[in-house]
Amino acid sequence: MSSPIDYSSSRGRASGERGAGAPAGHRAAHSGGAHCGSALPARASGPPYLGGPAHSTRVPTPSWPSGILVSKMLLLQRVAVSGLRVSRFDRLIVPKLGPHVCFASDPSHLQNPKPHFSNGSTPSGYWAAAGTLLGIGAVLAYENHREKAAENSLPVYTKAEVSRHRSLETRVWVTLGREIFDVTDFVAIHPGGPSKLLLAAGGPLEPFWALYAAHNQPHVRELLAEYKIGELSPDEEKSSDLVSSDPYASDPPRHPALQINSQKPFNAEPPLELLGESYITPNPLFFTRNHLPVPTLDPATYHLQVEGPPGGKTLSLSLDDLRRFPKHQVTVTLQCAGNRRSEMAQVKPVKGLNWGAGAISTAQWGGARLRDVLIQAGHSPSGPEAHVCFEGLDCDPTGTAYGASIPLARAMDPEGDVLLAYEMNGQPLPPDHGFPVRVVVPGVVGARHVKWLGKVSISTEESPSHWQRRDYKGFCPSVDWDKVDFDSAPSIQELPVQSVITEPRKGQTIEPGEVTVKGYAWSGGGRAIIRVDVSLDGGLTWQEAKLEGEAQAPRRAWAWQLWQITAPVPTELKELNIICKAVDDGYNVQPDTMAPIWNLRGVLSTAWHRVRVQVAS
Ligand code: MTE
Repeated sequence: MSSPIDYSSSRGRASGERGAGAPAGHRAAHSGGAHCGSALPARASGPPYLGGPAHSTRVPTPSWPSGILVSKMLLLQRVAVSGLRVSRFDRLIVPKLGPHVCFASDPSHLQNPKPHFSNGSTPSGYWAAAGTLLGIGAVLAYENHREKAAENSLPVYTKAEVSRHRSLETRVWVTLGREIFDVTDFVAIHPGGPSKLLLAAGGPLEPFWALYAAHNQPHVRELLAEYKIGELSPDEEKSSDLVSSDPYASDPPRHPALQINSQKPFNAEPPLELLGESYITPNPLFFTRNHLPVPTLDPATYHLQVEGPPGGKTLSLSLDDLRRFPKHQVTVTLQCAGNRRSEMAQVKPVKGLNWGAGAISTAQWGGARLRDVLIQAGHSPSGPEAHVCFEGLDCDPTGTAYGASIPLARAMDPEGDVLLAYEMNGQPLPPDHGFPVRVVVPGVVGARHVKWLGKVSISTEESPSHWQRRDYKGFCPSVDWDKVDFDSAPSIQELPVQSVITEPRKGQTIEPGEVTVKGYAWSGGGRAIIRVDVSLDGGLTWQEAKLEGEAQAPRRAWAWQLWQITAPVPTELKELNIICKAVDDGYNVQPDTMAPIWNLRGVLSTAWHRVRVQVAS
């Protein structure tokens, strides 16, 4: 579902997408990472983390000598013939002097530019030639640029000075490489949330960008450049805090057929032609939606904490303890709320990973019923309205874990089939899918199927997690990022009816005669698919597809139906505009277009699926 961080290119615009986060209060409640399962580069607080000497080496903005023409000429002459350390002034003036002088794209050129020459002349030859050209013209050029040079020169600071700017009161400074940025005005609109940006305040961004690798994009750097205020003193050693270890280094190997939407954190979907091939998605092809690095967990020491009712005990269940509960197996389709976001984004940009139609997969899950475990912990099967909150063992550098919740009534429903799953298609869960234990909530959006489960608790409130409260919600198409109020919308639980054409693929050329169209259809809340309508002519005429799949109990149709239809290709058509739409047993049907269901997060993208193909002549 929601994705790593996505920045609007325009300054002053917030996007709501984030790779991790939580309301500030929640972060505090979890700091310390007691439940975290992997060693992330947790940041120690306070200046020592930032290192660097306490003294200032600030270099004031150069004030060039004024007035006497001769002194200007002498200065230019010195620069030209001796190749003195090249200043910003030189960067402005030297390229205008004839031979083509270029500077390497290495950002270090700001401190130590290395000229090279497109005409083959040597540096010393160049400087000599340039020296003879220096005269009135150069002086005038210098005069023109003098002011600009002064403007462009940015002060130099020590790390210790940067470290004093850690709050909105003292202003928020961060560094990237040698560059220093004052991001105070960006804090409130940081797509990952203000608290996440403040974590980096007074120090380097690198350890955080290593975790949320979506930042490493040219448009993010461009945006950051607008906030540049200075540079770190070149005298300071490159300290080890800039060389961060990769928190994704122990992520598992993945199947090469997966189409990757983001590498770190890993988000990928299977190609549609493979997805539509089998009712049960093979584990290596199951779509993956991670917000953080995959935690490395030892099944021998793993324990799940299950909080009892107030005054009761907390169960600490090993994997073997969980296996002692009656084993329950259920075939369930998981769909990310962002499935098909890329189609919604064609209406108007949205924030989030650019999922195709493959953020959905089906597996047979095996494990203990959550209901049985909660009852064992002392909870009543019927009680006042409450929520079951789940915490994953994947944590961000603050110790904030992925979290989500579902209503207690769903968890306690004997027909709800909510599982604490330790098996996926007869195998232990793969690392990407929650090893050793994950929640499976049939009929409900993927975000609530918490992986690498560490803790279960009951609360009168929904999970305080960012992903429950500030993400995975739908809004009116007119709500934009300036107006959105996440508290005003309920969190997504059951998903609406969905169907997609998996074959043929968009742009394909098909043979005249007959065409076979295949796809999947699914609805949330256990609602069965009763029909899939297919049109070859853009919706003028429709035919019913044949449904395929396991028989499912009424109100417990947790898995999708694959469908297909073989139909004659209308002879008069050179192009087919194939459409599918599914109907569930509540007679809910997909909307015909995306525009009326557009929402700023690009979730719940369920309009008729359309594929245009050419007919070979
Ligand atoms: N659980 C944890 N702990 N961390 C996560 O990032 N992602 C959620 C959910 N559970 C997530 C998680 C989302 S948004 C989805 S869609 C599903 O896992 C995806 O499950 P999968 O990767 O097994 O397909």
